Amino acid sequence: MLRRQVNPTRRGGSFLLSGALHSKSRSSPLLSISLVLVGAIFLIIYACGGSDLLGRRKDAVSRVEGDDFSCTSEVQRAIPVLKKSYGDKMKQILHVGPDSCSVVSKFLREAETEAWGVEPYDIEDANSNCKAQVQKGIIRVADIKFPLPYRAKSFSHVIVSDALDYLSPKYLNKTLPELARVSSEGVVIFTGSPGQQRAKVGQLAKFGRPAKMRSSSWWTRFFTQISLEENEAAIKKFEQAASKLSYKPFCQIFHLSSYH
Ligand SMILES: *[C@@H]1O[C@H](CO)[C@@H](O)[C@H](O)[C@H]1NC(C)=O
Repeated sequence: MLRRQVNPTRRGGSFLLSGALHSKSRSSPLLSISLVLVGAIFLIIYACGGSDLLGRRKDAVSRVEGDDFSCTSEVQRAIPVLKKSYGDKMKQILHVGPDSCSVVSKFLREAETEAWGVEPYDIEDANSNCKAQVQKGIIRVADIKFPLPYRAKSFSHVIVSDALDYLSPKYLNKTLPELARVSSEGVVIFTGSPGQQRAKVGQLAKFGRPAKMRSSSWWTRFFTQISLEENEAAIKKFEQAASKLSYKPFCQIFHLSSYH
């Protein structure tokens, strides 16, 4: 008793703690039963949710980790799939979209294709490697609301990502036929899905307007309006290659045929 009073805080603390432990051990049967119950409920929820729910959650986590997740990074992931599905037909690529420098570098490194790029937005913060590509004319900085500085059918394929989402239908009406014009085989579009978050407020100045994520039926209607056809054979081959390579796209991907 005397000792406790010498150091009241500490002793009091341990006294309280042992009291708590004591009361816990007294109620322990009830406590462990409720713990088992809670555990069981979690297990049931987990089992019913299935691996799909879990898988999607995992995906969401890895996307959030990427923070500046974009369909442009998705293009880079998809290069082996594109290569496998389009094969030798994919000879000269034009990538249109932000961060085109890294996409073009990756195409040059990983696929036996020639590649060029159009950067629709300013690249002041680009690294020296990118600036060198601009100097060599491999990458051009160009507003895609205006005609592209290339002759008709200059490339086998045009791949566009994260750029069309920022255009209103009025401009899409001109830009999309432009992409088809400079390609001989096809246009591959990587675009955001409805509900996806894109472009933080700070980036709005760069893109001009917030991204609009359109549904796949909206796009399909739009393609018909401007007489562009989806390439069914390419779609099938891409799906096959994607499943072989375990590639699961997060963005919507459309395969269009160029004008004939
Ligand atoms: C786009 O072009 C199509 C066909 O040429 C036309 O029907 C449609 O009204 C145009 N849309 C806009 C927003 O200009």
